[in-house]
Amino acid sequence: MESHSRHLEEQTRYVYPTRVLDVDGNSTKVLTAAQEDSWRENGFALVDGILEPDLVDQIRRNCCNEVSPARESGVGLTKDNGFRGILFPSLDPATECVNQVTLHPRIITAAAQLLGIREHEMRLSQSEMWPKFSRPAQREEDASSRLASEPSAGVGQSPFSKSSPDQRVHIDAFNHYLTFPNHWYKPDCVAMIIYYDNTEITGGGTAIVPREGPEDPAYHICQAGGRSGPSGRSGPSGRSGPSGRSGPSGRSGQNDPSPQLWTPGGRGDLPWIDDRTLAEDYFLEHHPDIHAFRQSLYSREKQVRATPGTILFYRLDTWHRGTPLFPGQMRRIQNMLFKRKHAEWVTSWNAGISRDMYSRAQTVERIIASATMKQRCVLGFPDAESEYWDPYTLAACKARFSKIPGGLKHFSEVEEAVNARFSSGVSGAKRTRSQM
Ligand SMILES: [Fe+2]
Repeated sequence: MESHSRHLEEQTRYVYPTRVLDVDGNSTKVLTAAQEDSWRENGFALVDGILEPDLVDQIRRNCCNEVSPARESGVGLTKDNGFRGILFPSLDPATECVNQVTLHPRIITAAAQLLGIREHEMRLSQSEMWPKFSRPAQREEDASSRLASEPSAGVGQSPFSKSSPDQRVHIDAFNHYLTFPNHWYKPDCVAMIIYYDNTEITGGGTAIVPREGPEDPAYHICQAGGRSGPSGRSGPSGRSGPSGRSGPSGRSGQNDPSPQLWTPGGRGDLPWIDDRTLAEDYFLEHHPDIHAFRQSLYSREKQVRATPGTILFYRLDTWHRGTPLFPGQMRRIQNMLFKRKHAEWVTSWNAGISRDMYSRAQTVERIIASATMKQRCVLGFPDAESEYWDPYTLAACKARFSKIPGGLKHFSEVEEAVNARFSSGVSGAKRTRSQM
């Protein structure tokens, strides 16, 4: 009886991965219908079985295993805006396996399946692997030092330097969007976290707030005509929206079109505070209605149970947060993001990969030379039907990449398309020749 109730409690507090389809590499589907539906309706899908165990083992052996000295001193691993970890593409031969995961055909197919588009219509917007370490109890700090977005505190400073192991509940949109997440059923992106450790041992399982249908007051609320917003809807605090006058400041979410603005770094007046306790204390003092709303999110959250190779597919508008590790533990994950290629309002989190062409390793060039067209396209390479291609650009690109060790592979699709278009004298051949 006791074990039965414990089992029920586990089911309530945690989410467990399910296995993906067992199909060959040419299939257009990797995820089951239930996984696809979970991502589309609930905002996430937790899956196992996409990555080969050997590849996962290789990463566990070689990547982000550096322990404390660099971390303690704050030097050694730091790269790109204070980030400590491995950005795509890794130029180090020992950690190039991370590149294989980034361009893994089944990950690309799964992301395209969720967006309902073809692989070459997606672009990679982020790929980075990093370790998280358990920390001793935080020192008492002046709370104002965490308000990284306040003009007087840390102008130009990365929130990385103020990150907390016990995060406030948030959505990732405000790290990526120049605008705001699109309507729920018009997602621009697929985000993912790939776990390389067992969260039952390390702790630190991501906590998520599953969306509960189109009327869920924590999420966009779909309205007739495709508009979304919670106006007039009853929020979890029992107030509308939250509506009415609120808080000592007199500012409330009364007129806000979406509850997903109610997070640090979201609506412009809400300062960036990463730590849960500090963030919610701030809301309690300044916006009690938003505080009540956010407490309802914490009460609904479920924690991911992951083993090495588990992947959490989620969205930039899924409420979630990072949780603390168990003492003495380290947990490694890889964050990735694919977007629709025309979603220019979602910008790249990582530096452009052309920056890494400035390297004797020629890692980027080798990736492009050996990749399939689907893999190239998610990096921004033009697909076979692109207007970019004509006999001149085809010949020049062949000349550029054919001399890379291993040669240029998987390029016949482009050659055939150019030959078909230009041998028949159609589709801009004259225009292109005159430009040449
Ligand atoms: Fe996040």
